[in-house]
Amino acid sequence: MFVPGLIERKRDGGALTPGEWRDLIGAYHAGTVPDYQMSALLMAVYLRGMTREETAALLDAMVESGRRRDLGHLGLPVVDKHSTGGVGDKVSLVLAPLAAACGLAVPMMSGRGLGHTGGTLDKLESIPGFRTGLTLDETRAQMARLGVAMIGQTPEIAPVDKRLYAMRDVTATVECIPLIACSIMSKKLAEGLTGLVLDVKQGSGAFITDPAQSLELAQTMIRLGEDRGCPTVALLTAMDRPLGRACGNALEAEEAIMALRGGGPEDLVEETVQEAVEMVVLGRTGGGGGQPSAVSRQPSAADRAAIEKEVRAALSSGKAAEKFQQLIEAQGGNPAVVEDPSVLPQAKEVEVYYAPRGGTVLRVEPRTIGRAVVEMGGGRTKADDMVDPTVGFVITARPGQTVHASEPLASIFAKDAAGIALGRRALDAAIAIGEGKAELLPLIAARVTAQGVEALA
Ligand code: URA
Repeated sequence: MFVPGLIERKRDGGALTPGEWRDLIGAYHAGTVPDYQMSALLMAVYLRGMTREETAALLDAMVESGRRRDLGHLGLPVVDKHSTGGVGDKVSLVLAPLAAACGLAVPMMSGRGLGHTGGTLDKLESIPGFRTGLTLDETRAQMARLGVAMIGQTPEIAPVDKRLYAMRDVTATVECIPLIACSIMSKKLAEGLTGLVLDVKQGSGAFITDPAQSLELAQTMIRLGEDRGCPTVALLTAMDRPLGRACGNALEAEEAIMALRGGGPEDLVEETVQEAVEMVVLGRTGGGGGQPSAVSRQPSAADRAAIEKEVRAALSSGKAAEKFQQLIEAQGGNPAVVEDPSVLPQAKEVEVYYAPRGGTVLRVEPRTIGRAVVEMGGGRTKADDMVDPTVGFVITARPGQTVHASEPLASIFAKDAAGIALGRRALDAAIAIGEGKAELLPLIAARVTAQGVEALA
């Protein structure tokens, strides 16, 4: 295989054959293709795109770089969710125990922060003692006991994705539909799922900002999943403002716990409940073990309403919070955090941010907030950076709200005075106050399936 020739063909707008993708990924995994050639190829893909056939071939090669899990022995529907990444997006922390409390097996494998977005693993690791690095055997045992695990990518599952993901993060090649689709679907298909729910973000804080393109991303992933026997549904959700109020690892863990205990911001709860409903619907359509299908892939309004009632009851009854507590304990964390979030690490410096003027909050720009959290130490600019779990923001101002000058809009959490100053500048830039109306994307714009797009807003 002459790799410079493959890079050149891609650079000039040509396509690689499925066999070439398989050989290239195999050689990269074996260590005979160096990172610098792979990163040149990734940039060529970023600029030129991939055909459907190439995307499918890359995905299959990425899955084949590792093992596939088989959780059939659980006798339960195995359903997971993955988000394309956002700011303040702590849905997974609430959703995994919630879906497990509703009778699903949820083998959630997540990532770390990527670019300006936070990662579920970093949020979980803000809980003292919490281990995300379980082995597959440990995960298997925990799944049998609790029906849920929240782990990082193990060396056995799509190992090539782990390397490509880290390289894309530092070579400006994240925002690319086929690369995102292959990255997400390679991990998920290797999990041995009977159903998958995708949360595809749209808006300025998403990796793919253009709503038309986020639909294309959703449809690409759905096609890849369905063609490989994994029923896949996507919700298109808003990322033109942070989700919920908290942005930053420990602050988000605390907000997720509030939601599990029946409180929490409305948008976070609503999005989580609707994703849980989709997971339960997929789980009850007969794929895999578990209950025979009582609900069709396109459930009636009455079936959906019944499932939603069940999901909300699992939240309000404390069943989901109890599941999270068991999960934390099983993974070495301090379960007391669910009763007492002050167990979480606390920032050294806290400052309230006041409205510089009165008017309507027109925007709270998520990308500016996400970047500031990274710069304050809450994310990585190099792959081996340590993350400070305590830093970030709690932003109570919502787009559309009328505020008065000097009214508190947010709190800044930092490790020192320089971090507070950085946070203040970020809020000055991110929160636009003026006259007129805030233009917002709907929280959940559409439900996308292999059958089509159902507008929800
Ligand atoms: N999440 C992933 O797992 N991969 C991406 O490329 C983007 C978001």
